[in-house]
Amino acid sequence: MLSEKMNEALNVQLNKEIYSAYLYMSMSAYSSYIGLDGFANWFMIQYQEEMTHAMKIYDYINDHGNQVKLMKIPQPPTTFDSALDMFEKTLEHEKFVTNSINELVDLAIEEKDHATYTFLQWYVSEQIEEESNDNEILSKLKLMGNDGSGMYMLNKELSQRVFVPEYTSKALSGSQNQTDNKSQ
Ligand code: FEO
Repeated sequence: MLSEKMNEALNVQLNKEIYSAYLYMSMSAYSSYIGLDGFANWFMIQYQEEMTHAMKIYDYINDHGNQVKLMKIPQPPTTFDSALDMFEKTLEHEKFVTNSINELVDLAIEEKDHATYTFLQWYVSEQIEEESNDNEILSKLKLMGNDGSGMYMLNKELSQRVFVPEYTSKALSGSQNQTDNKSQ
């Protein structure tokens, strides 16, 4: 059983993960609109990843016999200045999520909630990876500036990204095949 405070904090984090998914879906839509299909692919996979982050928390709350309480999802921005702008906003958002995860870890320590502390370590590692990926793409974008061929190449590179599910929700039937690669 999770404390009421921890349950609420996890529900808020669940909302942030769904907002993240929504934000990246919006970036994917905008990328498609301006003809950057590789970027659209990258952001749509990011959307899928964020939904797995959300569902992992969803299942964790359920597993403890607590209630998942869905909240209103804020509207994400719908237009962006450029591909660079999208990745600057992506990195900025991921830093916000990292802070949020760190605060959750602090709460788990404060409450001596060892199970939640352990559960959150997956997110701590995930955030390092997310920020690193964003920084890498951001560096390339800054390096190429207004070079059209660089953008063409990067768009092609981002089109290669594929979704590798790291987690399948227990709430789905057939969850016996649940994958949680990172914890194995
Ligand atoms: Fe789930 Fe990108 O934070």
